[in-house]
Amino acid sequence: MSIQYYEKERIFALNTPHTTYLCGIAAQEGFLGHLYYGKRLEGISGAPELFRLEESPFTPENNDRDRVSFFDAFPFEYSSHGVGDFRESSIKIRDEGGHSTVSPVYESHEIRRGKEKLPGLPATFAKEDEAATLVINLRDPATGLKMELSYSVFENVDAITRSVRVVNETKAPLYLEKVMSCCVDMEDQGFDILTLHGSWARERHMERKSLGHGKFGVSTVRGESSHQEHPFLALLAKNADQNGGEVYGFHFVYSGNFLAQAERGQFSHVRVVMGICPEEFCWKLEPGEAFQAPEVVLTYSGEGLGGMTRNLHDLYRNHLIRSPWLHKKRPILINNWEATYFDFNEEKIISIARKSAKLGIEMLVLDDGWFGNRFDDNRSLGDWYVNTEKIRGGMGHLAEEINKLGMKFGLWFEPEMISPESELYRQHPDWAIAVPGRRPGRGRNQLVLDISRREVRDHVLKMVFDVLHSANIEYVKWDMNRPLTDLGSAALPADRQGELCHRYVLGLYEMQERLLQEFPNLLLENCSGGGGRFDPGMLYFSPQIWCSDDTDAIERLMIQEGTSLLYPLSCMGAHVSVCPNHVVGRSTPFATRGMAALAGTFGYELDVTKLSEEDKKMTSFQIAAYHAFNNLIREGDYYRNASYLENHLYDCFQAVEKGGAKSLVFYTQVIGQPARHSRRIRLMGLKAEADYKICTVNLDREELLTDTGRVMNGDLLMQAGMNVERLWGDFQAKLLYLEEVRA
Ligand code: GLA
Repeated sequence: MSIQYYEKERIFALNTPHTTYLCGIAAQEGFLGHLYYGKRLEGISGAPELFRLEESPFTPENNDRDRVSFFDAFPFEYSSHGVGDFRESSIKIRDEGGHSTVSPVYESHEIRRGKEKLPGLPATFAKEDEAATLVINLRDPATGLKMELSYSVFENVDAITRSVRVVNETKAPLYLEKVMSCCVDMEDQGFDILTLHGSWARERHMERKSLGHGKFGVSTVRGESSHQEHPFLALLAKNADQNGGEVYGFHFVYSGNFLAQAERGQFSHVRVVMGICPEEFCWKLEPGEAFQAPEVVLTYSGEGLGGMTRNLHDLYRNHLIRSPWLHKKRPILINNWEATYFDFNEEKIISIARKSAKLGIEMLVLDDGWFGNRFDDNRSLGDWYVNTEKIRGGMGHLAEEINKLGMKFGLWFEPEMISPESELYRQHPDWAIAVPGRRPGRGRNQLVLDISRREVRDHVLKMVFDVLHSANIEYVKWDMNRPLTDLGSAALPADRQGELCHRYVLGLYEMQERLLQEFPNLLLENCSGGGGRFDPGMLYFSPQIWCSDDTDAIERLMIQEGTSLLYPLSCMGAHVSVCPNHVVGRSTPFATRGMAALAGTFGYELDVTKLSEEDKKMTSFQIAAYHAFNNLIREGDYYRNASYLENHLYDCFQAVEKGGAKSLVFYTQVIGQPARHSRRIRLMGLKAEADYKICTVNLDREELLTDTGRVMNGDLLMQAGMNVERLWGDFQAKLLYLEEVRA
């Protein structure tokens, strides 16, 4: 079993194929402390030594004078509140007397096979023989509060997950004001910290900086994981790069408010905490009630960022995404949003479908504007019935017409929203999230529905289900276009208003779960004004998420680099759109746009009836490339060779078939090179002993592959590199295909 308890040493060892995580019970008081996380260990003898701290005597009970300095230095697995550890606490309560101290000590533990579900929450899963779980029960002796720490260890991936369940075993109600899902106290190695930042149309740009003293955290209180911050952080040894060096990744499986923070304290320690953001959170627990906190994924890589990336990709593909579509080639879609916005009718949609079908596009997705009185974005969210002025024959008929063309049909919804100008609002004004006496702020002229309420969820889902049952709809795009503000629920009592944001997320998860139960084969794509809710929580429900409203091929290099740092390419919604691009106004070659979209789920978001003959032809070449290579892109290993975000000149990454026999190299020359020379790029993930033939994948002409006649050894390609020819002009893409030459 991958989890072992060493009774004499009172130490728990959690082993994945290449990593070990050690924690143990220390001192006569039984504090649970962290000992080690890193490369897999062959033995643990003497590990308790590591608890000895120079800064203070390790005798808190016998020497009360030093108790506080002990608390402020000990490497806690779950930090206390208010008793002398002045670093970030993991938990905070308010009891009947108004007091908030908690000091957890070890009580018991249990080791189980497999991994249990987290009630109401998305989480990684594993079969009995694929994971083991350690539950350590901690208790605060003074109040009786119980904290169950869960650690699940995967047999085949270098990842560990942690979560916490808090049980009110005290005699009175209490308020949980803060509950982190994990706390890891590490030795400082002079770390850098890596996080992902952005805004609408500029999501998940990587940012790396030195971790100084004090706290550095990213968080959101927007009610969704957000465009601005990402529920992730990594600590990197200074020398860590794509190929080498130590990297610790922490990723939160949650879609709402979060805090991800690293703190470098007065001694050589770094504390990482991750959990629901304490701001806007307060949960009442009656005696006997429990609160389940969401899960954090931890991964250690001794092989740099690339190792972290591939650990997470494998974990998510094998142990998080549940969709029957996960390992399937997704239908190439065309979405009408950028083609028509709100200005369409049935004829227009069918004419787009007709042209698309001829080009080999496999599914038409009807975006915003098909329902209620939705002629613009000022109205009708919540009125999920067909607008028969636009779709005259009804949805069933439209789907039939599309199906007759040999295409699937998909539909857009935004179920969590309500327009003040809607039937739904007229009937149920109290269903919008709002504070009595305060006019709630509008975002895109809409309000957020209080889906913490069962009756609201039931009502909206019924409308959505009725539409989905009325037609052959095989795909749904579930959108969410504004953050939560003016937090107030008409259904919650005063002392439970602090529960709204988390109840909202639980409501969202429940709605998507019911949708998938009703339509098990549905291809669900999540979306939030582009990529405002791209997180592991949503991936549990949908195998793909719309990456960004910015479809410009160059902006996408940075957005998709940050996204693919954590998520498999098969998750990233990516489409070819028209130029000048609707968000940045840039014009890029059709082939470059095609390559950017091929690195994701692939599809089109433009009016094909207006495409030039040349672009139409190129569409079919891109489609041929998709069919030829999507298996490799979807299932392969991802390697990052060069970053445009870093060098401001060019971008390069690879998809490599597991085992290394085949690889695609995606190269974009963003800025034309002034001098006449080629560029040398070191490839990765190939077999050192094998020779590879190098072909060009043509995205702009009929012949799919052109053999360059070059054959090169894998080790040479990885150590010395490959020359990439100079391309003519800015924004030029080159897709190469390498295949092992077998004798
Ligand atoms: C959001 C989405 C877009 C589109 C519009 C429709 O912005 O990200 O793709 O669906 O909403 O209103």
